[in-house]
Amino acid sequence: MTIWVPQLPSEGVRYRVIADAIALAIQTGELAAGQKLPPQRQLADRLGVTVGTVTRAYAEAERQGRVVARVGSGTYVRGNEAPSGQYFLASRPAEDGIIDLSLSLPPPHPLRAASLGRVLQEIAVEEPLLQRAVEYQSDRGVPEHRERLAAWMTELGMPAEAESLLVTQGGQHGISLALQALTRPGERIAADVLTYPGLISAASQAHLKLLGVPMDEHGMDVDALARLCAQQQPPRLVYVTPDQNNPTGTPLSESRRERLAALAYRHDFWIVEDGVQYLPAVERGTPLYRLAPERTLFIFSTSKVLAGGLRIGTLLAPAMLRERLGTALRAQSWMVPPLMVEAVCRWVASDDSRVLLDWLIEELGARQRLARERLVGYSLGGRAHGNNLWLPLPEGQRSAILTAALAQRNVLVSSAEPFCVGSEPAPQALRLCLSAAVSREALTQALDTLVELLAEPPAAPWQTL
Ligand SMILES: Cc1ncc(COP(=O)(O)O)c(C=O)c1O
Repeated sequence: MTIWVPQLPSEGVRYRVIADAIALAIQTGELAAGQKLPPQRQLADRLGVTVGTVTRAYAEAERQGRVVARVGSGTYVRGNEAPSGQYFLASRPAEDGIIDLSLSLPPPHPLRAASLGRVLQEIAVEEPLLQRAVEYQSDRGVPEHRERLAAWMTELGMPAEAESLLVTQGGQHGISLALQALTRPGERIAADVLTYPGLISAASQAHLKLLGVPMDEHGMDVDALARLCAQQQPPRLVYVTPDQNNPTGTPLSESRRERLAALAYRHDFWIVEDGVQYLPAVERGTPLYRLAPERTLFIFSTSKVLAGGLRIGTLLAPAMLRERLGTALRAQSWMVPPLMVEAVCRWVASDDSRVLLDWLIEELGARQRLARERLVGYSLGGRAHGNNLWLPLPEGQRSAILTAALAQRNVLVSSAEPFCVGSEPAPQALRLCLSAAVSREALTQALDTLVELLAEPPAAPWQTL
């Protein structure tokens, strides 16, 4: 039987070049989603390396989210999508037995699909709406939609005026738009040293130099940012997730918010405030767009509240930027499809969305409590109703080993690596997306596996080298 055998460059650390070859083969389609990688011994023989090297390469490919190991079955390609295949996995949990806590998804609830069905049926019989849906609209969104989305945000405790609101295709789009409108290739921007990977990739796509600002238990070290601004040229913009850093969950303290706002005025940089990771209003601090209204863009999305697949979000921006942002949006896609925005506007105004939101908060709180009970004694990060839990590992344990061992047992979590800015060292820690488990039972099962492995740390898969 023919097996997949990559052509390897003669230079480079062997396990890394094999992992790189796997990545490339997936990218080019040579290895297809769902395809089984060759048995490790066979590949080792064909490549003239030890089995340990192939084991380590597979573990690295798994850590990067490209493949998944299934106990007693082998290692499979996860697909050509971003380093996770979580949407597929989340929709097939029973089939493959995987509990995926690696991507920040809202907990599943049948009301999501049911509500969407209801609003689509309503729209389907309203001729004027259908007419509007087939026509080009303004880049910033239909005025009525902007009114309704602003009212919804205000209801959620994020005061917004339709005037300052631009409809986007989700939080990631909001980030890209902000970078596109505010920066030029080669400019410097700054963020927490551990930050949302979507910002890291958007910065790289926009050819920006992303600087990591140190952080501590009060969030971004604003004094360090002030020194950076004083010593070198200030960054063009600073990206923050002040209510909960992703991945650590740390909020930015009120006094640092004020200092950051003052610094933005003093050094004339923009603040891009990301509020996509939803928290109930009582758990949020003062938004930066209130503290520095002329300097801050605020990004929100329906992804964590309603559903990620809708791809509808909002961007609040100061008056002087609105034209620029509209131009950027037009250059990308003319506008956000009004049909989808109409569906979201109806959904958020419905009782269904209130029921869902109440349930969501209760469910997230229960999941956080569940995890904290199971992981008692560990110093954990994360908000009481956040999607994520941050687990710094005990002395002597390594996240690469633990994530690989967990994956062997069908539990997927993320290490700190994807969140690291530039070549900053990754802390030995795990991010667990508690919200992503299909049920509390699945979450309990995953946590039990984690607790077992933490108590008896697994051997490094590469110790035979
Ligand atoms: C902090 C943060 N911002 C933005 C996003 C992207 O949001 P969306 O799915 O609406 O594009 C995410 C998604 O996880 C996130 O965690």
